[in-house]
Amino acid sequence: MTSYAVTGSSRGLGLGFVQALAADPSNTVFALVRSISAAPKLHEFVAGHAHKNVHILEADNTNVALIKSAAEEVAKVTGGTLDVLIANGSLMHHERNKLMLDEFPDDKTLEDDLLTFYKINVIGTIHVINAFLPLLRAGKTKKCIIIGSGVGSHKMARRTEVVDNSGYAMSKAALNIAAVRYASKYRKEGVIFLSMTPGFVRTLSAFRFLLAPEEVEKFFSEAEAKVREKFPKYEGAITVEQAVRDQLAVIASVTIDRSGDFVSRTGTNVEG
Ligand SMILES: NC(=O)c1ccc[n+]([C@@H]2O[C@H](COP(=O)([O-])OP(=O)(O)OC[C@H]3O[C@@H](n4cnc5c(N)ncnc54)[C@H](OP(=O)(O)O)[C@@H]3O)[C@@H](O)[C@H]2O)c1
Repeated sequence: MTSYAVTGSSRGLGLGFVQALAADPSNTVFALVRSISAAPKLHEFVAGHAHKNVHILEADNTNVALIKSAAEEVAKVTGGTLDVLIANGSLMHHERNKLMLDEFPDDKTLEDDLLTFYKINVIGTIHVINAFLPLLRAGKTKKCIIIGSGVGSHKMARRTEVVDNSGYAMSKAALNIAAVRYASKYRKEGVIFLSMTPGFVRTLSAFRFLLAPEEVEKFFSEAEAKVREKFPKYEGAITVEQAVRDQLAVIASVTIDRSGDFVSRTGTNVEG
């Protein structure tokens, strides 16, 4: 039996991870959601799933007590262990997404937005890691996967010259440093920390603040064309299934020598 906990399981990649992992009846999957009542796709999947190997638990990155109690619930089921944590839950978009750092309507709005990204994506993820770390240390495979993003890469930022969604990008850059810090402390103990970017993935739900459904395809085509101006061989946005399949292959094979790395969904190193 291998046990997995995945945050942000209500939709998008998190839901994709849960579905793929739950397909193997020997896995036990803990699907962590921000709000149990706001995860209809996950409930629907679990209700119709052949194996009874998915446990749904509440864990909002901004609620430490809830995160700790989710870890306690996991420990009750597994006897105090967890093999793999996938810290996936993040705030990606909001209505002021398009604004560059010097374009906000006022200083307070700018500060509030940056703090929101930092609180959910950086501090929240750290709370999740801290709550589950004792279980991971007692687990068999000891893997903590932090879902990062290419927009958190300094080199990528220089090359693409993208200027929107800066709060999100900066939060992901900060997470990469957190991963290295954890990796440094726990290397001798064999706990692997890996920052991994899934690539540009067609998780349509992420665009609910920005676009009407019929505009989504246009969004992806334009975004792909923009990247291809700098990277002509760019593959374009991929499906959730592909992103999950590739990432799970890397998660299965990663070893302690790569702890602290920031990798693509296929395991190649992303330059910081
Ligand atoms: N899609 C891409 O192209 C892409 C590219 C690079 C990196 N990523 C990363 O991949 C991960 C998943 O992205 P996605 O595309 O699947 O995003 P998504 O569709 O927007 O889903 C985000 C998930 O995070 C959850 N979440 C939001 N706020 C949370 C909080 N405070 N506490 C706990 N969970 C919270 C959401 O829950 P609710 O449903 O309750 O809001 C949802 O389950 C994220 O870490 C993202 O940064 C995605």
